[in-house]
Amino acid sequence: MKNTLILKTKDVNKDIKDIEKAAEILKNGGIAAIPTETVYGLAADAFNGEAVKKIFEAKGRPQDNPLIVHISDFEQIYKIAREVPESAKRLCEKFWPGPLTVILPKREEVPAETSGGLDTVAVRMPSNKIANKIISLSCPLAAPSANISGFPSPTSFSHVECDMTGRADAICDGGDCDVGVESTVITLAVNPPVLLRPGGITLSELREVLGEVKVADAVLNPMKKDEVAASPGMKYKHYSPKADITIVRGNLFEFKEYSEKNPEFDGILCFEGEEKYFKDRITVTMGSEKDSFSQAHRLFDALRELDEKGAKKVLSRSPSKEDVGLAVCNRLYRAAAFKIANGITRPVVGLTGPTGAGKGYVGEYLKKKGCYVCDTDKIAREITEPGSPFLDRLKEEFGEDIINGGGSLNRKLLAQRAFKDRESQEKLNKLTHPEILRISLERCRDALDRGAAAAVIDAPLLFESGGDKLCDTVICATAPEDVRLERIIKRDNLTTEEARRRMSVQQDDSFYREKSEFCVVSCDDSDIEKQLEPFFRKYIKEQVL
Ligand code: TXA
Ligand code: MG
Repeated sequence: MKNTLILKTKDVNKDIKDIEKAAEILKNGGIAAIPTETVYGLAADAFNGEAVKKIFEAKGRPQDNPLIVHISDFEQIYKIAREVPESAKRLCEKFWPGPLTVILPKREEVPAETSGGLDTVAVRMPSNKIANKIISLSCPLAAPSANISGFPSPTSFSHVECDMTGRADAICDGGDCDVGVESTVITLAVNPPVLLRPGGITLSELREVLGEVKVADAVLNPMKKDEVAASPGMKYKHYSPKADITIVRGNLFEFKEYSEKNPEFDGILCFEGEEKYFKDRITVTMGSEKDSFSQAHRLFDALRELDEKGAKKVLSRSPSKEDVGLAVCNRLYRAAAFKIANGITRPVVGLTGPTGAGKGYVGEYLKKKGCYVCDTDKIAREITEPGSPFLDRLKEEFGEDIINGGGSLNRKLLAQRAFKDRESQEKLNKLTHPEILRISLERCRDALDRGAAAAVIDAPLLFESGGDKLCDTVICATAPEDVRLERIIKRDNLTTEEARRRMSVQQDDSFYREKSEFCVVSCDDSDIEKQLEPFFRKYIKEQVL
């Protein structure tokens, strides 16, 4: 047990004595918890391997998990990174000082203890005035979050005091952290850059400066067994309170229904203003539903509060993934060890029918009623656009030369090969259909998460592709043959002969009617609203709390 010095560092001028004391401890190879705008860090001289080792001991952190080097002046980056590309300069100019960490090739002088033995190093310039002053009075500081490894990161003095008393040489009391989640981590050591950890600087902000930025799979997914981590921090169980958390997808109404069906959960992690619906449970709030920044600010405190209040099994609301929400989800999913339950009861609906039958009109009507409509024809085009990873799979099956020099698909050649016999056509279908359905379902889920009344998969080949099995119900649109003929002629600018030929290769009305729960006849004078009434009555329930 160390005798931990508590320093008051709230004001750069008034508290300068304590700030100087912290800097001195750090210069002399000690470790001190310091405030930053994101979370508290546990700092040591980044160039002193022996000092850095003490951080790992104090946190109980695995040795191969590298640390971030914190600087107070851009020029210091050249002492740490071997190469500083243009992209890094542009990024840092825009977002430093602030919650952004960039990964760059490392200089030899940075000890292996700091970089976890990697050839790259993480650098960030915090905007917190106290952090900045301590660094400028001492040296670049290696600092992970100042929590015991695996626990939620500390965002207030009381959190650090709780975790680091007896472990650090000093703790600086700098009040509460502004952002509340750790910095955004992006690697510029690969091309295109990859977002490794979302944080206060959002993905769209990064893309505005850099153009293409990939998102590491591990941001929202558990690491697969044996996978090599792009960022070692992703391997470990993280941000976990003692309470066992399950996230429930769905809106407040569905969440409440789910919680009532599962009374064994004694704790609820919800948004502000929702506590009143869960009076029989231990409730903790994590910001307001529409404000991801407030959620980021509150999250770690909320996780600690669940433990303090003694919650054992907790149901958590599911935050939006937009903007800083991505960082909130990244931390919360890990805190829940990726246990995510589906509480959504709004349906996924298939919408199909033969060409010219007026599916489009039905789709438009459903959109007006608050449904999301996913256009599978559009997805089919998207997955064959240049740059789509799906092209590689087509290439494997149908030959390298179906991709043109510029990366675009040679549609004519693919058609020649795929339609030469039944077997080849089936091969193409077996590749494309599941991919289109996978993307459709993903978009439907997102739309339901964002509050759509229902998610509709508009697919001419719904039954042929097996897509109906993913749906809770199916609506088909049909129309008299002469109406369809006229529509196709007009829409696609065809002769009567061509239009007839196209219709003749399709299934007839009865095929769709027999397989669909609802059928809408869509011609000029038909009343779509009236025909869809039974569908709305059965599937679109009013959700009142
Ligand atoms: O906001 C923050 O970044 C806070 C404050 C204290 O600055 N610090 C922080 O550090 O969150 P830490 O150690 O808890 O997280 C650093 C993350 C880890 O996920 C680590 O694996 C990753 O950055 N990282 C560090 N160096 C890396 C490298 N060379 N390559 C890939 N990932 C790296
Ligand atoms: Mg950490």
